[in-house]
Amino acid sequence: MDAQDRTAAELERTYARLDQPNVYSAEQCAVMADTIGRIQALKRERHAVILAHNYQRPEIFEVADFVGDSLELARQGQQRDGEVIVLCGVHFMAETAKILSPQKTVLIPDLRAGCSLADSVDPDELVARRDELRALYPDLQVVAYVNTSAAVKAVVDVCVTSANAVQIVERLPTDHILFVPDEHLASYVQRETSKMVISWNGNCYVHHQITPENILAVKEKMPNAKVLVHPECRSDVIALADAVLSTSGMVRYAKESPAQEFVIVTECGLSDKLLLEVPEKSFYKACKLCQFMKMITLESTERALEKMQYPIELDEAVRQGAERSLRRMLELSA
Ligand code: 13P
Ligand code: SF4
Repeated sequence: MDAQDRTAAELERTYARLDQPNVYSAEQCAVMADTIGRIQALKRERHAVILAHNYQRPEIFEVADFVGDSLELARQGQQRDGEVIVLCGVHFMAETAKILSPQKTVLIPDLRAGCSLADSVDPDELVARRDELRALYPDLQVVAYVNTSAAVKAVVDVCVTSANAVQIVERLPTDHILFVPDEHLASYVQRETSKMVISWNGNCYVHHQITPENILAVKEKMPNAKVLVHPECRSDVIALADAVLSTSGMVRYAKESPAQEFVIVTECGLSDKLLLEVPEKSFYKACKLCQFMKMITLESTERALEKMQYPIELDEAVRQGAERSLRRMLELSA
């Protein structure tokens, strides 16, 4: 066991704040503490790093070398030493790490950790739509949210994340944009930039479920709370926001703001993260659960390192095409 590993009792005390006694019982915390110790040993043996998305289960953060949003994970994958990256997040995040670091072994612990938003756009349909629109707007550029497959990234002009979408679209040397696949992020970018943004018809099932009524009901009880909204939310929800931010943007805002109460409008994992990291402030969960993110567990992470499963493999031409779009994003958001 590593010196910094926490005991079962410490884990139980920490997670009490989440008010989920069945998930974080004394017995469960004892099992978690043992698994965490074994994962740390396997990481050393395999020269591996674990990168985790902000929506992951809190116990995953115990073994993670870095926790962040999609943009930060893309950057960290390239910067970290180590022969193996275990990506505790969803499939497109692991693909992004592999696209940018092809020499490393990149593992996703559970192949069911996909993303229905990423699955809503197919490269052939996208190319057909792009060609149709280019006949009308010859300067059209195609912008893909990073929540897309490598095959889609390979046929677009640039990628963006929730943290840099507005900035990058504004910087593109064109007036016409086809933005895929998230219609809500597309309309947010349309409102925040001077460009004409044509959207795809995808959305994230988690954020799409959140309604203005959900937020208004909380605001009635907590009128001074700051409302932090992810840009994958509907525009009538974004209209109620004090700030529209990526997941890591929300963490920074909550830590730095003088406000004491916040309504966190995104996937539930982020509210849990804030409850644990900023115990002196109050966070209300106006959130829904992402079943894909929650597929990753300590057990599947241990198995990933033990059996080196499941490695991301990409066709080299697709990887190079996707790398071009991701590198352009990293340059434009530097
Ligand atoms: P962030 O890049 O803001 O972390 O968002 C990722 C995501 O999948 C949101 O649903
Ligand atoms: Fe995909 Fe939505 Fe889950 Fe994010 S929250 S991984 S966009 S399904």
